[in-house]
Amino acid sequence: MRVALLLLGFGHVGRRFVHLLEEQRAVLDAAGVTPVVAGIATGRHGSAYLDAGLDATRLAREVAGGGAIGPTPSEHTADQLIAQLVALGAETHVVVETTPLVIESGEPAISRVRQALRAGAHVVSANKGPVAHAYDDLAAEARRAGREFLFEGAVMDGIPVFNLVRETMPGVTVLGFRGVVNSTTNHILTAMEHGEPFASALARMQTAGVAEADPSLDVDGWDAAAKVAAMANVWMGAGITPQAVARTGIGPADAEWAREAVARGHRLKLVASGELGGDFHENRLRAHFTVGLEELEADDPLAQLDGQANALELQTDLLGRVVITQRDGGLEKTAFALFSDLMTIVKSARRRFS
Ligand SMILES: NC(=O)c1ccc[n+]([C@@H]2O[C@H](COP(=O)([O-])OP(=O)(O)OC[C@H]3O[C@@H](n4cnc5c(N)ncnc54)[C@H](OP(=O)(O)O)[C@@H]3O)[C@@H](O)[C@H]2O)c1
Repeated sequence: MRVALLLLGFGHVGRRFVHLLEEQRAVLDAAGVTPVVAGIATGRHGSAYLDAGLDATRLAREVAGGGAIGPTPSEHTADQLIAQLVALGAETHVVVETTPLVIESGEPAISRVRQALRAGAHVVSANKGPVAHAYDDLAAEARRAGREFLFEGAVMDGIPVFNLVRETMPGVTVLGFRGVVNSTTNHILTAMEHGEPFASALARMQTAGVAEADPSLDVDGWDAAAKVAAMANVWMGAGITPQAVARTGIGPADAEWAREAVARGHRLKLVASGELGGDFHENRLRAHFTVGLEELEADDPLAQLDGQANALELQTDLLGRVVITQRDGGLEKTAFALFSDLMTIVKSARRRFS
């Protein structure tokens, strides 16, 4: 199956994704999948398109080295590339959206996702914006178009939290969740427990490409709030935005609290949680969505997390509490999320064709 791809965004995640496609060539061959990266659009590093497929790994090296890959993108570049992509002869067309999170609105990513679905492409996204701001609309758009809108990389990198619930928990209702879902702040809190300054711990996450392009999104709790909104929208039909989440972040002044917590046998964690009070089908007003620092008892599963590790505890009706832990977060795991969403699309396309 020839799968034509358009990459909107070609930063840390987008570039790691094209290298992963290369590394997983044997797996793709065995699955009979031939991915062709036909188009790439960036913000400031140019755009490129070739029907026969670009040499995406070479272009990734060029952008990583500070080079541009083509003409400066205009306001209409993404629209034009989406139109070119779906006109291409391929069994499946996929837009891979990895532009930065715009916390205020989720735009322009939301409009791009909508446009791609309407044009007949599937969409996979590592960007939390669309699912945190417009999940209901985009899911409805995808249903109307008979296409997939998948976003496994939006929460806990490549660890399959959305897949887990969607594919393996039929009939299960998620009543609530709590987790440590931001790698940058967990790394900083862990480092501060050992006496490292806030600034150098944050700088390490920026160098690793794990912190958001604007790191205040991580340290002020916005990234975690967007993840809360994403989970609440997908699992609870909450229809909220990140702005509806009661939020506090972390700062250098929390170093003392982090060390004192350890001295008491506890851990200080930035906890993201959501629950719908009472009968949640009837009483959305009692919903509670928060991000904030909590001093956790040592036996709390969230207290075990060091560095970039994340964990999420789901409160469900049929399965009770389910905890999923990611011991080693990082860029390659987010790239894997895009890869796994791509394979989900291939599987569902095959089901449709058979
Ligand atoms: N990094 C992680 O570990 C991680 C983990 C989970 C989820 N995510 C999410 O994945 C997304 C990408 O993260 P990243 O680390 O790859 O970010 P990044 O390195 O900042 O890359 C963002 C890319 O988007 C491009 N871009 C910006 N505005 C654009 C526009 N209007 N149209 C087209 N392209 C545009 C940028 O181009 P220029 O550089 O030329 O401006 C760059 O290529 C973000 O939404 C992030 O929240 C990241």
